Amino acid sequence: MNIKKSLNVAIALLLPFTLHAADMENGKELSRTCALCHGKFMQGVAGDIYPRLAGLPSGYTENELQRLKDGRRKAHLPMLITSMVDTMSAADMEDVSVYLEHMTIPTAHVRAIPRPTYGNSAAGKNIYLEEECDGCHKKDGSGKAKKGIPPLKGQHTDYMLKQFEDFKNIARIHDGEDEKDDSSFVDMNPDILRDLVAYISTFDD
Ligand code: HEC
Ligand code: HEC
Repeated sequence: MNIKKSLNVAIALLLPFTLHAADMENGKELSRTCALCHGKFMQGVAGDIYPRLAGLPSGYTENELQRLKDGRRKAHLPMLITSMVDTMSAADMEDVSVYLEHMTIPTAHVRAIPRPTYGNSAAGKNIYLEEECDGCHKKDGSGKAKKGIPPLKGQHTDYMLKQFEDFKNIARIHDGEDEKDDSSFVDMNPDILRDLVAYISTFDD
């Protein structure tokens, strides 16, 4: 078999997985409205509301958009209205997610993520290891992009605390579809949640 032929065979074998290659232009266009809340460089805003999106694994972002659209994750209503996430097609979601993954925040705009003034990071480290958070989010908080497990490093700390509270109150389900009864956070008291955030914020050092 000559090289060209074997290349064709290889391409034919790959085809089913590459039917929709992300359209970066469409992604860029769609991302314009996101900037209103998530920042021009998708760096997010310090505080408990707007997370950083730049560099998040696209598979994760796509999943979250789908969940926000169908209500499995309680949507931030202004986000749905402004960006019309509820009318986005699956292809749009993929395009914008891949575009966001490839965005890098210019150094001058990387806003230092302030350390929380609450929590005990040493206690948080013990909980992180005891609860085996590292099994999924890794020891350095970098997550597992291919498995849709988000990084915890680089994310705004107060936003993270809000997610823990949402997990605790089952307003957001932690760890995907099969774990509807994921109760990892239900029994954690507010001090433990703050300790976890304090520890997670050290990943950025
Ligand atoms: C009106 C403000 C607003 C706009 C516009 C907006 N968002 Fe959001 N977005 C939010 C808020 C607030 C949250 C946090 C919700 C929560 O606490 O669960 C969020 C969360 C997210 C998350 C979850 C991040 C994570 O780490 O889990 C993703 C993904 C996301 N937005 C994508 C987008 C995309 C893509 C666009 C543009 C198409 C967009 N957003 C436009 C306000 C907005
Ligand atoms: C079995 C794997 C697994 C384990 C163990 C795990 N997580 Fe997660 N975590 C996930 C997945 C998957 C998601 C994404 C959930 C979704 O799609 O909404 C997630 C989401 C999160 C988020 C939200 C991130 C964001 O950007 O909004 C935080 C915070 C988090 N986990 C912290 C923890 C902590 C702390 C622990 C230990 C107590 C932990 N996780 C244990 C798999 C895991």
